[in-house]
Parts: sequence; C-alpha cells; structure tokens
Amino acid sequence: MKDAEPAVYFLTENAGKYREASRLAARFGVKLGRLSFSKQEIQSNDLTEIAMHAARQAASEHGCNVVSEDAGFFVDALKGFPGPYSSYVYRTLGVGGILKLMEGVKNRRAFFKAAVAYCEPRQHAHCFTGGVGGTVSKKARGSGGFGFDPIFIPAGGEGRTFAEMSVDEKNALSHRSKAFGKFFLWLTSVRSRVTLRQVK
Ligand code: IMP
Repeated sequence: MKDAEPAVYFLTENAGKYREASRLAARFGVKLGRLSFSKQEIQSNDLTEIAMHAARQAASEHGCNVVSEDAGFFVDALKGFPGPYSSYVYRTLGVGGILKLMEGVKNRRAFFKAAVAYCEPRQHAHCFTGGVGGTVSKKARGSGGFGFDPIFIPAGGEGRTFAEMSVDEKNALSHRSKAFGKFFLWLTSVRSRVTLRQVK
C-alpha cells in the first residue's frame, strides 16, 4: 500500500530544525513532510509576523498545508541582540562573535523564542509560540544541534549546552518543541474536528 501523503509540510532549509520537529510530529502521529526552500522573509522585528507571512505565501505558492518557523536568540546584556537578526548574525559573526561580545560580561542571561505558523491554501494562518531561558556559556561546547546551540545552556539542562544534548533532550526543553507542541496539539485536536484539507 502506498504511504499516505504528509498532512503538513515544514518549510525549512535547516536540517536540524526539521529533525527536531519531525521527532515531535511522530509523537503526535502527524506525518510531516519538508519543503526545502528558504522562507520569504519580510522586514520585521516580530517573529510571529515573519513566520505567518512565510506560511501564507508558501501555502499559496505550493498549494499544500505549510508550517513555517521563525526563531531568534536574545541576549540580555546585548539588549536582546541578535534577536530577529539571529540568522544574519550567525552567518556573519557566528558563535565566536557572540562569545567575543560577551567577554568579561557578568550577566549571561539569554533566551530563545520560536514562532510556528500554520497555513492552508486560501485560509487564515495560525501562530504558536514557545521560549526557553538560560545563559550564554563562556566557551562553545558540544557537537550536536546547529546555530547557537554550542553556547546556550538552557535552564533545567544540568549545565549542558543544547549542542551537548540528544535531539530528544533538546526537545524536552527547547523553544521550538514548545511552539511545535502547541501546534501539533491544536492540529490533532481542534483542527482535526473539521476536515483537514487533503494535499495533492
Ligand atoms: P531562523 O531565522 O528561524 O532560521 O533562525 C535564526 C537563527 O537563529 C538561525 O540561523 C540559528 O542560528 C539561530 N537558531 C534558531 N533556533 C535555534 C536553535 O534551536 N538552536 C540554535 N540556534 C538557533
């Protein structure tokens, strides 16, 4: 028998994000496909607005149910920088650049935020958010994950950075898992009571 088509496609070029989200999707019994295209990003400081615009645009362009995510890394001592500019800062300054800016800084508090937006073709988008607080490490540690994972020590993670954790351990704490968890719960309870649009 032919496998059922995915109910939802995650618009992301980031293999790490897809790995984390698919692991959660499986737990909710949701078949998550992947649209490996870069999301169309509008100029905004609002993660929710960026994620919703990208989901709407991709659902209309690809004619399927799309989930899109926008995340940011906010460092207290840097007044929330890099925040919505995280992906640009990661590509330019990298993990080393943030460590450099944090040299000698006592307040190492930071947090991650994620906005997950879902849209079906010709429908309104829905958005779900999640966050996790922690601190910026003094050195990069670990080889797992992606992005700023080697320098972020989440609260409740026994002092390890996200990059020192397995996917499931990161998922137990992360901003992404909180936002996707809310989305999958909504999709499999509230949304599933009305007919979920079939994807071609
Ligand atoms: P994006 O714009 O949502 O793709 O994410 C912005 C940037 O934030 C990414 O390029 C990563 O560098 C960083 N980022 C987002 N989520 C995470 C995470 O879970 N761990 C580490 N870095 C992350």
